[in-house]
Amino acid sequence: MSTSAFGFLITFISLCIVPKYAQGLTRHYEFNIKMQNVTRLCHTKSMVTVNGKFPGPRVVAREGDRLVIKVTNQISNNITIHWHGIRQLRSGWADGPAYITQCPIQTGQSYVYNFTVVGQRGTLWWHAHLSWLRSTVYGPLIILPKHNEPYPFEKPYKEVPVIFGEWFNADPEAIIRQALKTGGGPNVSDAYTINGLPGPLYNCSAEDTFKLKVKPGKTYLLRIINAALNDELFFSIANHTLTVVEADAIYVKPFGTDTILITPGQTTNVLLKTKPNFPGAAFFMTARPYVTGQGTFDNSSVAGILEYEFPSLHLKKLPLFKPTLPPLNDTSFATNFTKKLRSLASPQFPANVPKKVDKHFFFTIGLGTNPCDKKNQTCQGPNGTKFAASVNNISFTLPTTALLQAHFFGKSNGVYSPDFPINPFHWFNYTGNPPNNTMVSNGTTKVMVLPFNTSVELVLQDTSILGAESHPLHLHGFNFFIVGQGFGNYDPQKDPKNFNLVDPIERNTVSVPSGGWVAIRFLADNPGVWFMHCHLEVHTSWGLKMAWLVLDGKLPNQKLLPPPADLPKC
Ligand code: C2O
Repeated sequence: MSTSAFGFLITFISLCIVPKYAQGLTRHYEFNIKMQNVTRLCHTKSMVTVNGKFPGPRVVAREGDRLVIKVTNQISNNITIHWHGIRQLRSGWADGPAYITQCPIQTGQSYVYNFTVVGQRGTLWWHAHLSWLRSTVYGPLIILPKHNEPYPFEKPYKEVPVIFGEWFNADPEAIIRQALKTGGGPNVSDAYTINGLPGPLYNCSAEDTFKLKVKPGKTYLLRIINAALNDELFFSIANHTLTVVEADAIYVKPFGTDTILITPGQTTNVLLKTKPNFPGAAFFMTARPYVTGQGTFDNSSVAGILEYEFPSLHLKKLPLFKPTLPPLNDTSFATNFTKKLRSLASPQFPANVPKKVDKHFFFTIGLGTNPCDKKNQTCQGPNGTKFAASVNNISFTLPTTALLQAHFFGKSNGVYSPDFPINPFHWFNYTGNPPNNTMVSNGTTKVMVLPFNTSVELVLQDTSILGAESHPLHLHGFNFFIVGQGFGNYDPQKDPKNFNLVDPIERNTVSVPSGGWVAIRFLADNPGVWFMHCHLEVHTSWGLKMAWLVLDGKLPNQKLLPPPADLPKC
């Protein structure tokens, strides 16, 4: 081929290909929700899956792409799917939380989730968003950077999703149904899993072990996701250091650590540099919980194995090294680890922290009680009551129709009221001796209304009611900046002086410290109804959840798009 012809070909290719990529592709997926028999720990159960897979299929897109995912419900339960961490700019109809942005997809029905990935790249995930169905219905959602946009770190040799889950021998739906009936705490899981596998530390499980086979002298990118239902997790690989480079699909200033802490809802990308030469050993990678609450919990450990490939030798049994994880209640590790997380805050990836604040909010979060509903009987919660949880002492009432539809069609009457309180009704020493009355309030569904482009500062304050506990709070539709955090009661005079407005971490799920507070900021530039809740599923079930209603802006591109025609009805 002559040089000019070659040049022509290159021009031709770039004309054809580049504009197409610049606009983004449309990627189609089919999710068939169906029952599947799965065996772990010698227990076989029929469980809800996507396409019969556990964990579910990997969804991959590039920044700028459109995802079109057809979900068909072939089980007897209702279901919805949430794309956790996707901003859903103006496309709230595709967000997924049941009765917030949509009615559930009923048996035999389909719904097409249709959204564009704008300004995001990194590891996110998807999961069912109705009751506890996410215990088996989850998978990775990987957003690659645009073509020719490198990572702001060393190019990995390989990328591997590492997704933590919780395995229950029983049906998780039966577990939470029972708990809500009796008022007591739900039964805990029987195992933790890595990519669906509990590993060799459990009985009858050695065959079900995740093995990461690596070559010496290479860099691997682990896309770590915590899809566990109710447990924050420590994770470590024996004799290897991890370099944290991203959290919740936001690049961070890289730092090395032996152990990471990851709460349900969060994702963390780490680089793993393998040893320069074959080490003559294998290495456990283990995870177990970080626990601050007072209830029972699954204190077991999941293990996978890091194996160096060495094909030319038949080696004897290799020594197996085990990592040392922090103690189960190691709050000082948790504090130090979260302090290390900083936004990259580079010209290319700036930290656009809202500098001025339009509205300040102060929300208490924590546990509480409801009276026993059975006359003259005792329930299994504290002192014969039922466990509950709340935000500003309001235990959220899930409506029976979707809030977003009610809002869009002007039918909010009798569905929700716009009077969620900006702070608790009564002051009390939130983290001191708890008040005698631990009852939460119930009633109409309350939302917090925000005009378009409101700049919000929200302080989330843990309470010591029924024990202080760290709560991973997740906000739909936005990333927020964690500008401050501390222990004890938030001090509105002193604490703002120490806020980090330069390079705070930006994420979609924050762990509110046990007996402490965090301050977050976000710009309400995405019209719609956005759920905010504790990502410990049991706390969500008990009512630790609320919704923001962000109104349309004036310009056409500041308005919520109309709903798709196949939007499910309640
Ligand atoms: Cu990952 Cu509302 O959830």
